[in-house]
Amino acid sequence: MSTEIYYFSGTGNSLVVARRLAEKTQGKLIAIASVIEQESIRTNADRIGIVFPSYLAHLYGIPLIVERFVKKLRYADSQYIFAVCTCGGYQSVNALPTLKNLARLIKNAGGKLSAQFSVRLPMNNLDYDHIPVPISTDQEKMFEIAQRKIESISRRILRRKRDKHRIAKSLFNLLMSPMYYLMRKPCVTALIKYAKEPQDSKLTFRELIPLSDNSIYVDEKCNGCAVCTRVCPVNNIKMVNKKPVWQNHCEMCLACAEWCPEKAIHHWSRADGIRYHHPAVKIAEMLRQSNSGFTNL
Ligand SMILES: Cc1cc2nc3c(=O)[nH]c(=O)nc-3n(C[C@H](O)[C@H](O)[C@H](O)COP(=O)(O)O)c2cc1C
Ligand code: SF4
Ligand code: SF4
Repeated sequence: MSTEIYYFSGTGNSLVVARRLAEKTQGKLIAIASVIEQESIRTNADRIGIVFPSYLAHLYGIPLIVERFVKKLRYADSQYIFAVCTCGGYQSVNALPTLKNLARLIKNAGGKLSAQFSVRLPMNNLDYDHIPVPISTDQEKMFEIAQRKIESISRRILRRKRDKHRIAKSLFNLLMSPMYYLMRKPCVTALIKYAKEPQDSKLTFRELIPLSDNSIYVDEKCNGCAVCTRVCPVNNIKMVNKKPVWQNHCEMCLACAEWCPEKAIHHWSRADGIRYHHPAVKIAEMLRQSNSGFTNL
């Protein structure tokens, strides 16, 4: 049985999960960013994994590049397709709605999501001060729990297991739906702010996310090394007069800010100044993700 694990990752969490699942299944690890320009994505693999972070879970959760990937993938009946969503908050309220949306997206594209999993890893986009409930931020403990979860996921996918607790999950999603609905407006308002659009902007979240780089800026520490242009998975940064300029097709993955060697990039996240990437990931692995293919760092 052949396996392909497709992943998208800005700060390495999803890459660590994807990498381990590829090892355990002897599968091929493929960056979504490296195939996304293809008109349609064909595969002969009979076990396909999609590993990605949850973004704005209450609004939609699926990174736009993952959405495009799912729409381009060509499906066959015999395929076992599983997804692993990584998230920084509680899995029940963040990964669950994201995976529900993904299942629907895959169904509409002609496939079937056979199994859904989630792994909680450190939140890469904000600090926890604004969250009114206590959240453990002990990263070592989180990595340990995540490791056990990844091993258990790999055992399940090796046996092509279907979803666990399907009815309970659906019921939970149903109960939470009013809350997700209430959180949509504040999410869109935040996106309008990041995109620097007028407050009464009628743009949809799919139109606003690519513009969110309008609030990314670079300070005087920038030495023009161009690492940010190479780490961006969607080639959204160009160097102009030795300074990075963002091109308004951003995925909000934060890779540029997190991996800038001079810590010169600042973005919309309230965690400005706080940087995070998974400690087991090196920048060279992030460069491989990009379809520009630079690996010489
Ligand atoms: C734009 C953005 C939005 C996010 N929204 C959520 C969210 O709604 N819920 C959540 O639990 N985590 C959220 N996160 C955190 C990431 O899902 C989490 O840290 C993930 O593991 C990062 O994966 P990566 O390192 O592979 O990029 C968000 C991160 C970003 C960059
Ligand atoms: S990676 Fe940082 S220092 Fe290098 S060009 Fe980009 S912003 Fe400037
Ligand atoms: S510009 Fe930065 S945040 Fe936007 S997609 Fe590229 S690396 Fe990610």
